[in-house]
Amino acid sequence: MKVWITGSNGQLGWELQRTAPSNLTVVATDVDAIDITSRQHIDAWMVKHEPAVIINAAAYTAVDKAEDQAESATAVNRDGVAQLAQGAQGNGTRLIHVSTDFIFDGKQHRPYQPDDRPNPLGVYGASKWAGEQAVREVLGDTALIIRTAWVYSAHGHNFVKTILRLARERDELGIVADQVGTPTWANGLAKAIWRFVERPELTGTYHWTDAGVASWYDFAVAIQEEAQALGLIDRTIPIRPLQTHEYPTPAKRPAYGVLEKSATWHALGIEYPVQWRAALREMLRGLKTL
Ligand SMILES: NC(=O)c1ccc[n+]([C@@H]2O[C@H](COP(=O)([O-])OP(=O)(O)OC[C@H]3O[C@@H](n4cnc5c(N)ncnc54)[C@H](OP(=O)(O)O)[C@@H]3O)[C@@H](O)[C@H]2O)c1
Repeated sequence: MKVWITGSNGQLGWELQRTAPSNLTVVATDVDAIDITSRQHIDAWMVKHEPAVIINAAAYTAVDKAEDQAESATAVNRDGVAQLAQGAQGNGTRLIHVSTDFIFDGKQHRPYQPDDRPNPLGVYGASKWAGEQAVREVLGDTALIIRTAWVYSAHGHNFVKTILRLARERDELGIVADQVGTPTWANGLAKAIWRFVERPELTGTYHWTDAGVASWYDFAVAIQEEAQALGLIDRTIPIRPLQTHEYPTPAKRPAYGVLEKSATWHALGIEYPVQWRAALREMLRGLKTL
């Protein structure tokens, strides 16, 4: 079976390639080879490769920049996704699309269920929600949408690598402590997606993150502690918990972004999901050997 991964240079695209089951044929492209905003690119690629499955890991992910670049964010996250869905429909291909907790407003105090009401706070979230809607409009119930959150990987830019750098450069840090969610290693997400690939009957909307809950502050403290234990950094600096208003950003972020995953774990037969801190430790171990 042939699987096409878009956004192959991103965090998830990279982990998908590293974890691909050997019985599958994987073709992977990023924007330099196939720009998903180009219907021509997509059609030509589909004709040439005839993939049975598309995993869309391509996205405009610059949350703050998106506030001033709504057109670019929408072109990729809504229109590009719609075109992939159309390409999939025309060829009887299964589309697995990845979305985000940022489609929710974070005003809830219990984990978000897949069918909870979306209400994005910013341009990025709105463009991703529009992309989900486009997928459902074109492919109805046959598509699979997997929402995730707080993704990091050894490859690419993310919070873990930023904290490691700041721990070396600064003498202290202030990190937001009143926004909570679940840090998620892209490696675990990629492996979950491969399990979905093996289960064509699973369609609709599912949530995937690592298990547990943390604030950005908790996450930063854990990164520092785990990295020091592994010898990735040789000192720890004091980290101060901040409130959101003390660290203003162009885009508003959900205060509560925990996703309910029990339906996913049940569907995939996962009895003991990996807690976010164990996943972080594993990622840092890998980073040490890179
Ligand atoms: N990162 C997170 O914390 C997070 C949280 C929740 C959900 N998600 C979702 O998870 C998925 C994967 O995220 P990620 O963290 O792996 O993102 P990422 O590291 O930013 O990777 C996205 C990739 O897509 C590429 N891309 C951008 N525009 C494209 C286009 N027009 N055509 C083809 N490729 C294009 C990017 O290339 P350039 O870098 O050259 O632009 C990049 O290589 C996305 O759907 C994202 O919305 C991410």
